[in-house]
Amino acid sequence: MSFLKLLQNQIIMDDYYKNLTDRVNQSLLQGINPSRNYLEGAVYYSLSVKGKRLRPLLFLSLIEGFGQSPTQYIDIACGIEYIHTYSLIHDDLPTMDNDDFRRGMPTVHKQFNEPIALLAGDTLLTLAIERISKANISEQKTVRIIRILTSCIGLRGMAGGQAMDLEFKGEKEKIFKIQRMKTADLIRGTLLSAAEILDMPDDQKKALDMAGVFIGIAFQMADDLLDVIGDEHKVGKRLHKDELNKSPNSVVFYGREFIEEKIDILYQKTLEKLKEIEIEFPPFLNLIKKMAYRSR
Ligand code: IPE
Ligand code: IPE
Ligand code: MG
Ligand code: MG
Ligand code: MG
Repeated sequence: MSFLKLLQNQIIMDDYYKNLTDRVNQSLLQGINPSRNYLEGAVYYSLSVKGKRLRPLLFLSLIEGFGQSPTQYIDIACGIEYIHTYSLIHDDLPTMDNDDFRRGMPTVHKQFNEPIALLAGDTLLTLAIERISKANISEQKTVRIIRILTSCIGLRGMAGGQAMDLEFKGEKEKIFKIQRMKTADLIRGTLLSAAEILDMPDDQKKALDMAGVFIGIAFQMADDLLDVIGDEHKVGKRLHKDELNKSPNSVVFYGREFIEEKIDILYQKTLEKLKEIEIEFPPFLNLIKKMAYRSR
């Protein structure tokens, strides 16, 4: 492909993400009034601070990749972003990772206070279920999606993984399991929620499930890499903290070269699984690539 063509494709792709991200950003704040009270102000703040909106984009572009209009499913995309934002607010609390910057802005407990940050997280998780339950899909699909997502973020998923992260005492063989639970499971749940919308057959769901595990672990590895070698301005959070916190950072324990190789392998394995579901939609595939090779 010529350089000009590549550039053209990149511009089209960036435009696609920008449009979809704008729609998601608008919809995220729907019904939330920051002047009503302190808690609502904190919830509003956490959602108005610009994140990458990766999970909504993954969900919506996968749906669009199969020929359906994504706008109809924006409630579910927002619900997933609420869950993710709740996890970050709690992850940043002093009793967890103790971070004061997130998405280039003060963390919620710094901007407001700790109890309100705790409650903002609880509220977002609750709002997520409420929002998903209002989605414009059949009740049966709604229940299935809630079941998928809740199983991915509970005891054997994100919350369980975060607990293992906190209990970590340097047992490096546990790191990949922690990455799968704390990070990959919500990403897997995001893809499987789209699969539910798309009525995918079981074998395709299985392939997507595995793709979610692979790319989710690669995404956390890339996050670990950024903590070690990233650019703080671009990433929007304090770096070089994982070693200090004795966190299970895969790059700290396995070395940069080994983890970069692992990311390559996991990315390739993800593509193999995605081939099985025959998805060729460039914005979706490009997103997957950005997750493995992120700069922020
Ligand atoms: C950060 O997630 C936490 C991890 C799971 C590694 P993102 O990198 O998706 O954070 P935002 O939403 O863009 O801020
Ligand atoms: C966070 O992992 C994973 C979840 C929030 C579930 P990290 O602790 O590495 O995320 P950052 O680096 O603070 O974004
Ligand atoms: Mg953490
Ligand atoms: Mg953290
Ligand atoms: Mg990190």
